[in-house]
Amino acid sequence: MSFIVAIDGPAAAGKGTVSKAVAAHFGFAHLDTGLLYRVVGRAALASIGPSLDPERVIELSTEVKPEDLERTDLRTAAVAQAASKVAAIPEVRANLVTFQREFANRSGGAVLDGRDIGTVICPDADVKLFVTASTERRAERRFKELEERGEDTSYEGVLADVIARDKRDSERESAPLIAPEDAHLLDTSDMSIAQAVAEAIAIIDAKR
Ligand code: CDP
Ligand code: CDP
Repeated sequence: MSFIVAIDGPAAAGKGTVSKAVAAHFGFAHLDTGLLYRVVGRAALASIGPSLDPERVIELSTEVKPEDLERTDLRTAAVAQAASKVAAIPEVRANLVTFQREFANRSGGAVLDGRDIGTVICPDADVKLFVTASTERRAERRFKELEERGEDTSYEGVLADVIARDKRDSERESAPLIAPEDAHLLDTSDMSIAQAVAEAIAIIDAKR
């Protein structure tokens, strides 16, 4: 039987961290759907350049393969920005729907995290969480992560990137970032990772 947990929220809110822990706890599979857009964004930067010509981006979105999600060069700030630009193209989103729905409906349970999982990809998900945190807290966390990975970056630069991406993601016409009406809100601003994970597990337990 399938059991679907949909986790949405803005950049660096802790979606991935919570999703991984929840999937490990319940033995569910996990898909970080942001990686799909990052794969397309990275390929577009590499083969088209910063102009991101929509027709060619759409073509690239038909060529995404599961093994592309394993690439190690998807977490850079440049790829994040390109991902959010290509993610605003409706045809790109449409080309990635089937893969996500098939993943979600596997037997044994699945956790998917992104921006439109509870609203568009899996509107009938068994549990929906909207994970968020203050903009400054999210920028601090992402800055620390990028710094630890050796990226040449500054807190101010990461903050500006997060704000630009949230704005683009929230204001686009196609599947904008919005909390699903029936989602549980998880504000992790003042929570440790352990607290956020424990709260998510309690919410899911209550539905099982
Ligand atoms: O997936 P998303 O971009 O929403 O965020 P993430 O990659 O799970 O988390 C971003 C960073 O915040 C990671 O380095 C986490 O370890 C950290 N984090 C945290 O410090 N406290 C939390 N409650 C959740 C995440
Ligand atoms: O980890 P973080 O929250 O910083 O970003 P991500 O989840 O890897 O997503 C990168 C970009 O992909 C986002 O800024 C969105 O523009 C896009 N995205 C989307 O449109 N829909 C999703 N379901 C997941 C990501």
